Amino acid sequence: MSPATPTIPVYQGHWLFKSAFQIQKNPVHFFEEKSKTLGDTFYAAYPGGKVLISANPGLIKQVLQTNHKNYPKDRGYDQLALMLGQGLVTSKGAMWKKQRKIAQPTFHKKNLENLFAAMTEIAHQYIKELAQKKGQIVDISQEMMAVTARIAMKALFSSDIEGNLKEIYHAISYAQEFVAKRAINPMIIPWTRLNGSLRKFNRHRGVMNGLINNLIETRQQENDSKADFLQMLLEARYEDTGEPMPLDLLRDELVTIFSAGHETSANGLAWTLYLLSQHPEITQKLRQETQQVLGDRTPSFSDLKQMPYTRQVIEEGMRLYPPVWGVGRYAREADQWEDHHIASNTIVICQIFSLHRHPDLWEAPNEFNPDRFETEKAKARPSTHYLPFGAGPRMCIGNHFAMMEMQLLLPLLLRHFDFELIKNHPVVLEPMITLRPKNGILMQLK
Ligand code: HEM
Repeated sequence: MSPATPTIPVYQGHWLFKSAFQIQKNPVHFFEEKSKTLGDTFYAAYPGGKVLISANPGLIKQVLQTNHKNYPKDRGYDQLALMLGQGLVTSKGAMWKKQRKIAQPTFHKKNLENLFAAMTEIAHQYIKELAQKKGQIVDISQEMMAVTARIAMKALFSSDIEGNLKEIYHAISYAQEFVAKRAINPMIIPWTRLNGSLRKFNRHRGVMNGLINNLIETRQQENDSKADFLQMLLEARYEDTGEPMPLDLLRDELVTIFSAGHETSANGLAWTLYLLSQHPEITQKLRQETQQVLGDRTPSFSDLKQMPYTRQVIEEGMRLYPPVWGVGRYAREADQWEDHHIASNTIVICQIFSLHRHPDLWEAPNEFNPDRFETEKAKARPSTHYLPFGAGPRMCIGNHFAMMEMQLLLPLLLRHFDFELIKNHPVVLEPMITLRPKNGILMQLK
């Protein structure tokens, strides 16, 4: 990647469709390819306009952090809002601020510690079930999705995916897929109105909302208090009014936490296992750490801190395969970045995947090397070079939850299993809202 040039170049693409199809086919691949000649920041022409795409840490910092007020979330998030309503990921302005403030304490360390026991219980159950598949070929991305979905449901509602929760899970999965496709590829929106999928989405959303409303109402009538997100958000009060969250908003937040929280961690784990399957020496080192710190016992919350190499492996996994590969904003008003004018209404895509592999920022950027995240080395690096959880006020609220979950699951999985990559199955990036492996990642489970 060559650095940004004095004027920001424009990639024109096809005479009629411009870069639209190329970006929609695979935005990560498109940027990686074009940035080799155009630099880390360029415009991609679209029919009727152009978007600014950047892996430059300075511009990304300006958009997400220092001048974030000028850069609200882009239109892709409006599609997500069909499902997530006014939840934290999709709300804006004063509504977002109010919700972030009331939800923030829920994610504090003390509460996470309380959720850790539930998380561990699911992890153990899951490992027992996975052991039944020893000797088989499994899709590790589906497997990780299954376990993180169960953990998320347990953390939200203190229950495994069974009965009503199974129905909620199916409805959310369908709705999530539907809105993600429309957010990534707006050209299909009219088609979804014609082919019945919008109707199906509305049906699923109705089921999902109804069931979650029931769960909330039942909990309100119960006396025993549980340590889960539902309980914590029910008990939370707005600072200014002392009022609780209205039912609809509470439901939006629960759906948001589930949606934002399980596919991301699942992909983080799946890609890390993929990398580990190609680096036996790193796997070995991670297992040694687990053995030294835990022996054969179950990890406790405080053990996680004693396992720095596990953390480093996960951080390096998310550097190479950030579960959220990019985030979009638009310029409310015209802005200036270095010598460049950014016109009002410009859509800006912060390309986290390519930031994490920027050759000016990382030595041997494509190499899997967890040593980069040794505490001293990580401290010496500008924080804007590594943004798996985003930056600025809209940074991930679930980052500690996600790290705790991955730091728990990864060593447990490697204690019980060997994962051998099926070499003739191509592993291909599929950047939807999260960075998925298209057709999965197949592994022989030993
Ligand atoms: C490896 C796992 C995860 C990754 C990589 C990740 C990444 C991100 C990123 C990049 C953003 C910012 C999006 C933007 O600026 O447009 C975000 C926001 C968010 N994430 Fe996560 N996330 C993860 C796990 C979780 C978990 C486990 C939860 C909940 C339990 C969660 C809940 C949220 C919420 C609610 C927001 C919106 C925050 C706001 O705008 O105030 N995430 N996440």
